[in-house]
Amino acid sequence: MIDELILKAKEAREASYSPYSKFKVGAAILMKDGTYILGCNVENSSYGLSICAERNALFQMVAKGYKKGDALAMCIIGQTDTPISPCGACRQVMEELLSRDCKIILANLKNDVKEMTIDELLPYSFSEDSLK
Ligand code: THU
Repeated sequence: MIDELILKAKEAREASYSPYSKFKVGAAILMKDGTYILGCNVENSSYGLSICAERNALFQMVAKGYKKGDALAMCIIGQTDTPISPCGACRQVMEELLSRDCKIILANLKNDVKEMTIDELLPYSFSEDSLK
């Protein structure tokens, strides 16, 4: 299951549009119904408009009608020395849209893999509970 998810994230990375940073990132989400949702980073000449691979995939998940709790696992992959570390903005969006038990698989192209949870990635987070 994890090997297949990593392959999907690698496949997603191939579509990366990153002419400025030349840093390709891929993300894949495995839904509980077996569907894979892929995302890649998409940059812009107005740099701040670029979107990370993780958020691209997560927003597509919402656009397809999935809810928090529907995702089983998510994988993110990039060409890094150690398994890729998702940026802070993406961690916050993961906290919003993924359930606590969703597996988050961080990977690189050398087959290094690190499995984490959202609580490990973003401890003491601001969340919907904070607004109650
Ligand atoms: N990037 C991602 O897609 N995900 C991350 O977690 C880190 C950074 C992208 C944004 C930008 O297109 C490029 O990688 C370099 O920062």
